[in-house]
Amino acid sequence: MGKLKVFDHPLIHHKLAIIRNKETTTKLFRETVDEIGALMAYEVTRDLPTADGEIETPIALTAVKMLAKEVVIVPILRAGLGMVSGIQQLIPTAKVGHVGMYRDEDTLEPKQYYFKVPDTTKDATVLVVDPMLATGGSVTAAIHLLKDAGAQDIRFVGIVGCPTGVDVLKNAHPDVDIYLAALDPKMNEQSYIVPGLGDAGDRLYGTK
Ligand code: PRP
Ligand code: URA
Repeated sequence: MGKLKVFDHPLIHHKLAIIRNKETTTKLFRETVDEIGALMAYEVTRDLPTADGEIETPIALTAVKMLAKEVVIVPILRAGLGMVSGIQQLIPTAKVGHVGMYRDEDTLEPKQYYFKVPDTTKDATVLVVDPMLATGGSVTAAIHLLKDAGAQDIRFVGIVGCPTGVDVLKNAHPDVDIYLAALDPKMNEQSYIVPGLGDAGDRLYGTK
């Protein structure tokens, strides 16, 4: 069974306070989501495999360790895009795939509209990123598509989740580790996370 890790770090708590605040501007919201992505990436990648190598410093030969596997970041559009550049700051060699998915406003079912991932996805560590894990429908469907494309080593990196989303994702994909900055208690009648931060895509892109 994949693990669930909910972060407990002062910088992440502080940045969560900023993005939860309804008065936060689009600019600050966007910058802070990106910063949270970067902070989370450090921990999410803690156990990535390394390969031993040897390099020459200006002074001497030395043994080194380098990442043994490629990392592919897969944002779920739109809101997942907001976390990509923060993670890329830590893993500049990471390739990026895209899965377009939106929740139908009436049925809440995930609707796919785009899918493009690097050929190397099947051998890579794949970080699926989306700030919100609500009903779990979007990320569960996105991971099914990634597995159909051959992905075998998948981690989910979200910012705010809730117990329903975690259970749905765990049941559908028990092999996937789940990383969240916060686990909120519930959803409302419209399946928005409570207290949450509202509609992540709209707040990132100023669409409402
Ligand atoms: C949001 C969010 C997730 C999804 C989570 O996307 O970014 O993808 O909802 O909800 P779920 O767990 O119930 O599926 P949305 O559908 O609003 O699309 P957007 O990112 O384009 O705004
Ligand atoms: N999608 C969002 O953007 N916010 C929520 O609270 C739930 C789904």
